[in-house]
Amino acid sequence: MFPELICFIIFFMLSFVINQKRLHKSFDSQIRIPNKVVIVTGANTGIGFETAKELARRGGRVILACRNLTKAHEAATKIKLATGHNVVVKHLDLASFRSILAFAKDIIKTEGRVHILINNAGTGVLDNSLTEDNLPIEAQVNHFGPFLLTMLLLPVMKNAPETARIINVTSILHVFGTVENLDKQGKNFLERRRVYANTKLANILFTKKLAEEVFSTNDNIMVNCCHPGAVYTDMFRDQPRIVKWMLKLMFLTPKQGAQTSIFLAVQELMPGLHTSGRYYTNCREDQPFAAAMDRGNAQRLWDLSFKVCFADRRW
Ligand SMILES: NC(=O)c1ccc[n+]([C@@H]2O[C@H](COP(=O)([O-])OP(=O)(O)OC[C@H]3O[C@@H](n4cnc5c(N)ncnc54)[C@H](OP(=O)(O)O)[C@@H]3O)[C@@H](O)[C@H]2O)c1
Repeated sequence: MFPELICFIIFFMLSFVINQKRLHKSFDSQIRIPNKVVIVTGANTGIGFETAKELARRGGRVILACRNLTKAHEAATKIKLATGHNVVVKHLDLASFRSILAFAKDIIKTEGRVHILINNAGTGVLDNSLTEDNLPIEAQVNHFGPFLLTMLLLPVMKNAPETARIINVTSILHVFGTVENLDKQGKNFLERRRVYANTKLANILFTKKLAEEVFSTNDNIMVNCCHPGAVYTDMFRDQPRIVKWMLKLMFLTPKQGAQTSIFLAVQELMPGLHTSGRYYTNCREDQPFAAAMDRGNAQRLWDLSFKVCFADRRW
């Protein structure tokens, strides 16, 4: 039995690695984005760091929106050394509506316009505690926080003469998600384990609904989401050493994982509903799972998010 199990694990790992490498696509275009104001949340490490670095290299005025300012300044120094470009560091804690409001006010006052917003920050902490806004922490950091941030920044995104872009980083794990009771703590082990998938489903439904809303009001904003692949990042920092070693071997690097976010931020796409509200992976459009295409789900999530973020006025 034991040798069979080892063979199965090796076979599984090899086919996973081969499949990931086979499907992975790098974004090779050299398009530059001089002076475009870009916000990348969770940009101090992982996929967000690589995204911010590349967009700075392409001439963007990149703002690292991070909860830990020490880590963010270290990241800014690394980007400056690697690209020769300065980036801006600002505090943003998505687990706090007050922090999101302060960040948005600061951006509106100091920048006045935003061309590209990348909602990249995310957590998979399996922590069932509530935030100061009385929401489950994973649900707030991964969905309600980015929802509020996006809504507060929409007015300055509409100001830009060229098409502005919103990119939400989701995950293929949305396949296991549901958006029922997203604002409630998980009652049992299974419900708690599912919160990450629920929030990643929410990222896609939000993308689709927001794309329709901005299109119907003729706002010049393109909204898309992407799955970065399975990427070895700090997201797995609490795993045992042997698991981390295996993941590092099998998964993509953060630079590889950043390619689709970068593609969506800079690639020239004709504005319109056929290029907005879409799900991308490996730098091309893909079809998400059925729950992410359900308009009823999208409407229910939209209503709940407005209630939680605005009607209940938690901030
Ligand atoms: N890695 C994968 O295989 C994978 C697969 C699919 C989707 N994704 C998605 O990719 C995105 C980036 O993840 P990653 O893999 O690059 O993970 P990561 O290396 O752990 O980066 C996550 C970033 O989010 C930040 N963050 C966490 N809580 C925050 C909060 N309350 N306020 C503001 N920022 C906060 C983290 O800050 P700290 O450093 O201070 O913790 C970090 O900068 C996430 O949305 C994730 O769901 C990842």
